[in-house]
Amino acid sequence: MQKKVSRLNKPLNGQIIIPADKSISHRAVMFSALAKGKSIIRNFSDGQDPLTTLKIFNQLGVESEIKGNEIVIKSNGILKQSATHLDCGNSGTTMRLISGILAGQKFDSVLIGDESLSKRPMKRIIEPLTQMGAIIESNEYKAPLKITGQDLHAIDYISQIASAQVKSCILLAGLGINDGSTSVTEPHLSRNHTELMLKAMGANITTNGTKVSIQKSELAPIEIDICGDISSAAYFIVATLIVPNSKVILKNVGLNPTRTGILDVAQKMGANIQILDGKEVCGEKVGDIQIEYSQLKGCEISGEIIPRLIDEIPVIAVLATQAQGTTIIKDAQDLRNKESDRITAVVTELKKLGANIEETPDGMVICGRDKLLGGCEVETYHDHRLAMSLYVAGLICEKEILINGFEWVDISFPTFEELFISLNK
Ligand code: S3P
Repeated sequence: MQKKVSRLNKPLNGQIIIPADKSISHRAVMFSALAKGKSIIRNFSDGQDPLTTLKIFNQLGVESEIKGNEIVIKSNGILKQSATHLDCGNSGTTMRLISGILAGQKFDSVLIGDESLSKRPMKRIIEPLTQMGAIIESNEYKAPLKITGQDLHAIDYISQIASAQVKSCILLAGLGINDGSTSVTEPHLSRNHTELMLKAMGANITTNGTKVSIQKSELAPIEIDICGDISSAAYFIVATLIVPNSKVILKNVGLNPTRTGILDVAQKMGANIQILDGKEVCGEKVGDIQIEYSQLKGCEISGEIIPRLIDEIPVIAVLATQAQGTTIIKDAQDLRNKESDRITAVVTELKKLGANIEETPDGMVICGRDKLLGGCEVETYHDHRLAMSLYVAGLICEKEILINGFEWVDISFPTFEELFISLNK
């Protein structure tokens, strides 16, 4: 689907409720399926990716009932072999976390994915799972993955990358191991939703700095209200900061510190952002974010903050085009392994719009603040975050732009455009 985006002729104004967090939605389904009893998940994400996860657990014998955006999951904690392949679609989180669950089952499974997911690296999970005794056949460390269920053993794994998907995969494999404690140590802390939710469900899991350890545990069912996704909020944060005279409040946004790198960076760039009504819901920090149009300056983004804003880098690049001076993004080489090579994709497409942006091996350098001319077609590379970032850029381009493949937005945020329109009435 091609989407035409024109420069906004008036500010963004008002308040919206940000839809449910994708990462937490995936985990709520997976962990409820492993618990014995009835779990209730409220405000479940309507993105395609979490629904993909739900469908896979239905194939694995778990019963679910959907009532609006509430899901009731009834499980006896035991999964059954699926008669057909398990299709993870576009979702890396689904494929990598479920591999950790399936590696230790008493049956075999085959995981497949779409064109984008089939190009993404799976060695990062195949290697540690194989060390635990798993048997996984792959297409040169890429999907499809044929997993032959095995009895696994505990390991202490030192991960070279800060990845919540790798960490969660190993912890989920460790959850079913009878003797010994399985641990994962990361170079920097990645998002910790797995640790928080498993702990809330009674798992024997402990964290010490960037090391997490787990032992065999029975999970109790949960009742959870999923907070809004800061990765979805990011598009509204950036748009409000760069569309002159805008002022917006985003309600019910997850503010887990392992996810709030975008707020820290925006504030370092001079953004007028305030947190209103901060509280804790189901173990996760939540609050409303108030944002006002601001004069920004460039900054360096590198090191430990990268995993805390990894999914927001495409839209942060858009923000940097409107900041005075140079913004340097470093240590983000894993962006090349996302739904697209997000370094090349962002740089190529923002250049088309007229941005002064250059690619580096592990990031990009952006010189602001130039007017974006637009007046051209841009591509989305099967990548929802590219589609939404380009839409935000289109709101400040001099001439209208055409975004090809805009339907990818539905992967995480089907109501994306509707919410933008509601702020510009
Ligand atoms: C996710 C972890 C991150 C992130 C992805 C969701 C998760 O990936 O980019 O969108 O839910 O665990 P990595 O673990 O590969 O960094």
